[in-house]
Amino acid sequence: MNEKNSDITILKIGGSVITDKSSNEGIVREKAIIRIAREISFFEGPLIIVHGAGSFGHPQAKRYSLAYKFSAEGSGVTHRSVASLNELFVNALAQRNVNAVGIHPMGCLVAKEGRISKSFLLAIQMMLEKGITPVLHGDVVMDTVKGSSVISGDQIVPYLASKLNAYRIGVGSAEDGVLDEHGHPIPLITPDNFEIASMHIGGSENTDVTGGMLGKVKEMLDMSRQTKVPSYIFNANAGGNVMSFLRGEMIGTAIKDKA
Ligand SMILES: Nc1ncnc2c1ncn2[C@@H]1O[C@H](COP(=O)(O)OP(=O)(O)OP(=O)(O)O)[C@@H](O)[C@H]1O
Ligand SMILES: [Mg+2]
Repeated sequence: MNEKNSDITILKIGGSVITDKSSNEGIVREKAIIRIAREISFFEGPLIIVHGAGSFGHPQAKRYSLAYKFSAEGSGVTHRSVASLNELFVNALAQRNVNAVGIHPMGCLVAKEGRISKSFLLAIQMMLEKGITPVLHGDVVMDTVKGSSVISGDQIVPYLASKLNAYRIGVGSAEDGVLDEHGHPIPLITPDNFEIASMHIGGSENTDVTGGMLGKVKEMLDMSRQTKVPSYIFNANAGGNVMSFLRGEMIGTAIKDKA
């Protein structure tokens, strides 16, 4: 499936941006979704969007202890909740004339002990070739060992980047990048400075069952080691940043395999 000289861009929009993540029930940030849909609408080229679950997924997964035990009810409740957020985002994109289509990982990915192990991506690849923008999300997926597992958008992004040979990856979250001990964004993280940088990287200030900022940085660093593709963790809460990333600007914290 890998294609040489791919021009695919992958953009993740964190659940901390498009939902009120401090809530125990799904609360959408409609203004943020509308603004981000507008910023995305100016982009031309093959784009995959992955959004986080925020309060539409993390509290539900925690309530049913999905990380520790299988629950058919909990899997269904959590999936349907995130899928409803996906529909809101897709509709906002469609309002801005983006040919967006919601793709649920639960229907095209399978995990083994919490890591994606199987996928059906041909439909996504064909959509990209034909000008359709797939919009995926953090989700519950079936798991060959655990029954089901919660797969973060932060795991889906590098998986797709590697399988589809993407060339640019942006991860929009709620801070100006990966912050150091003074609250300033670290410009560059590589395997060389990860250990020192990680002393100041935590989980999430809100409920996050998939590792918050530290989980994100580890996923992106592993990916850059394997694929050599850099990623940028930036603040998608600040107006204009999504557009800046999509225009090709360096923004936030760059994560690369070497300096
Ligand atoms: N060093 C750090 N720099 C930046 N953020 C940090 C750091 N340490 C911990 N965090 C926390 O990580 C959070 C971002 O991770 P989180 O998983 O909550 O967001 P998200 O990925 O946007 O949401 P979702 O998982 O729903 O998509 C920040 O809001 C902050 O609270
Ligand atoms: Mg997260």
